[in-house]
Amino acid sequence: MQQFATLNASKANFDNIYDQPDPRAYFSVLGALDYMIPDVAEPIIRQILAARYKRTGTNATVLDLGCSYGINAAVHRFPLSVRVLRRRYANPEMAALSADDLARLDRNYYASWPQIGAARFIGLDVSAPAVRYAVAVGLLEAGVVANFERGEPRPQDRLSLRQVDVVLSTGCVGYVTERTFKSILDCADDPPWVVSFVLRMFPYEPIAAELGKRGLVTEKLAGATFVQRRFRDVKEFTDCLTALEKLNIDTRGLEAEGRFQAELFLSRPRADVEAAPLAKIVTVVSGRNRTIGTRYVRVGRGADAQVMRVPS
Ligand SMILES: C[S@@+](CC[C@H](N)C(=O)[O-])C[C@H]1O[C@@H](n2cnc3c(N)ncnc32)[C@H](O)[C@@H]1O
Repeated sequence: MQQFATLNASKANFDNIYDQPDPRAYFSVLGALDYMIPDVAEPIIRQILAARYKRTGTNATVLDLGCSYGINAAVHRFPLSVRVLRRRYANPEMAALSADDLARLDRNYYASWPQIGAARFIGLDVSAPAVRYAVAVGLLEAGVVANFERGEPRPQDRLSLRQVDVVLSTGCVGYVTERTFKSILDCADDPPWVVSFVLRMFPYEPIAAELGKRGLVTEKLAGATFVQRRFRDVKEFTDCLTALEKLNIDTRGLEAEGRFQAELFLSRPRADVEAAPLAKIVTVVSGRNRTIGTRYVRVGRGADAQVMRVPS
């Protein structure tokens, strides 16, 4: 845990944007750094949830750990992206609204999109205002405000976390350690699947070892990294490279090109891993978000399928 604290010192501190009553500052500050991990993680999460559905036949309850303003739920449940949401909040008329008025509009905004989600979402975050917003606008069905790095789950937390089937996190490991994962697993009736997108400077072994005590086997997706965001300044860049070099991690072509890189870890009961290893259930499509110009897509299935032309 001390190791994470030292590594975190090399990352810019954004505590003030996590603690606002609405996500405008979050999108403005992190958006300006091309924060994209919810977008690049989303297709992978969708494939993992599909694999879980195939195995269990039930839609999962996902706990978004470090859920912040519910962005993973937004990009999974609706045809939205961080980029689209960022543009919404950058609108000057939006900037002038009170937090309450914005939440009222956002509730209607999310309700106006077709649901494309494959799970119900609940969230856990240390930031009470962020969780309150995510629940108020309908992105999360329920939220837990807690810091399991510092304290034990309360009875109401235990109740909320009993039915969790999947624990998901983007941009959160580093703030949380094996301690938080242990608390969540202690609350769950059955060991959940754990999907973690983790910056390469944060060693995942202590968390994998903790999950292993509950019978979960951890796989890392080989040969793929996921961009989290650009470095904020030269200090954050050089501190990160130094931290990675100390861990003997080669940064060439990756962080050395100016972007934080995350890896994917998936932990599941051994029987699930044996039935379908991670490499079999996930395909990474590079360049998916970079198409410029018109493209053709197929909408619907079977006899009802239609070809649509999507303008640039
Ligand atoms: C970089 S943000 C990531 C938010 C979101 N997952 C995303 O990718 O957009 C990190 C989040 O972790 C939360 N966090 C920090 N320490 C935490 C803790 N001990 N327990 C739960 N959440 C924590 C912060 O409040 C913040 O919302």
